[in-house]
Amino acid sequence: MRLVLLGPPGAGKGTQATKLAAYLGVPHVSTGDILRHNVTARSELGKKAKAYMDAGGLVPDDLVIAMTERRLKEPDAKKGFILDGFPRTLAQAEALSKFTKLDAAVNLFLEPEELIKRNTGRRVCPKDDTVYHIFMNPPKKSGICDKCGTPLIIRDDDREDVVRTRIETYESQTAPLIKYYRDRGLLREVYASGLIQEIFLRTIEVLKESAQSRGR
Ligand code: AP5
Repeated sequence: MRLVLLGPPGAGKGTQATKLAAYLGVPHVSTGDILRHNVTARSELGKKAKAYMDAGGLVPDDLVIAMTERRLKEPDAKKGFILDGFPRTLAQAEALSKFTKLDAAVNLFLEPEELIKRNTGRRVCPKDDTVYHIFMNPPKKSGICDKCGTPLIIRDDDREDVVRTRIETYESQTAPLIKYYRDRGLLREVYASGLIQEIFLRTIEVLKESAQSRGR
């Protein structure tokens, strides 16, 4: 299964991608996570990307396209992938269509007020990228990753003012991809409010219907 997850910041793309990747046995490829690891490692890519990310803007297309193409050429992505955070512009979507074929693009949609709450309460594990929420998806022990015991951190771009800018960036640059994938018959819509497990089951259902309609 080669899947793209679309949706505004905080819609739950990373949360659902982790579950879908485990269920489908394909890698979860998050461009946000790859970029954040580059920033932490102070790589050349990380140094170039940091200012854009901190401001809530997009990292330039050429950098992100090259990075994603490299990742999708790794052996584990041969059997499929869940792409989380890519594409984010029409140029990225066009580039992606040249290096792989997709089965579906799932749009996770949610009311804007909910997005702010989700982002500002998020905590992440800097080691294994597991995502928590202080109220809605807390770790068993406050501030500590359930999986690896690492202290959780707040993302630099989860300050409310930056979250609002990220939502605006999404609306102007990424939301047009909904029409792009609808026009190509690949768009599937999932309402992203409710329990994490409910949304996961909704997504699986939508993917099954999609596979049936495509004769698979
Ligand atoms: P990225 O990391 O991709 O950020 P994003 O798209 O803004 O998405 P988020 O990670 O904020 O949210 P999410 O939808 O994954 O939600 P999550 O599951 O975490 O990108 C960061 C930056 O990198 C960008 O701003 C840009 O600068 C750069 N970048 C990345 N890709 C790029 C590209 N292709 N081109 C250019 N630049 C790029 O959930 C959010 C919170 O809600 C969590 O706390 C979670 O626990 C909670 N939650 C999830 N589901 C539920 C639920 N059902 N109920 C209650 N709480 C829930």
